[in-house]
Amino acid sequence: MEKTFLMVKPDGVQRNLVGEIVSRFEKKGYKLVGAKLMVISQELAEQHYDEHKERPFFGELVDFITSGPVFAMVWEGDNVIAAARKMMGATNPLEADIGTIRGDFGIQVGMNIIHGSDSPESAEREINLFFNENEINDYEKTI
Ligand code: CMP
Repeated sequence: MEKTFLMVKPDGVQRNLVGEIVSRFEKKGYKLVGAKLMVISQELAEQHYDEHKERPFFGELVDFITSGPVFAMVWEGDNVIAAARKMMGATNPLEADIGTIRGDFGIQVGMNIIHGSDSPESAEREINLFFNENEINDYEKTI
């Protein structure tokens, strides 16, 4: 079954949006199989955002993502990588459709509330960066 990595960024945690965001994915029908509130180290932030290291905003991005706790999650279900991207909306919240997480709750590209893996390769990489194998709960839903 497909899995993706989602992370409520420090702005989302501070604005009390964790519950709202978890609720959207639960109501959609996806299964939460891993979750933790954590402060990201400088090293993990640089690894996670490695593909952006040449961008002018890289320093700002690393500073922001390490500035306070994030809520890291692994979600599972059919087509969850693409569906989560759709539910998050465009990277720039001002361009994100109303009804999406960024479209409903954000106005700044740097503080865009949530991160989600953009492909099966990045999902695998990001899940392994943030979670140990024993932190992923592969349970069956019985109700
Ligand atoms: P995310 O999906 O976490 O992946 C890379 C992040 O870089 C992106 O969300 C934005 O928050 C951030 N980002 C993109 N463009 C800019 C920018 N121009 N200035 C600051 N941050 C940016």
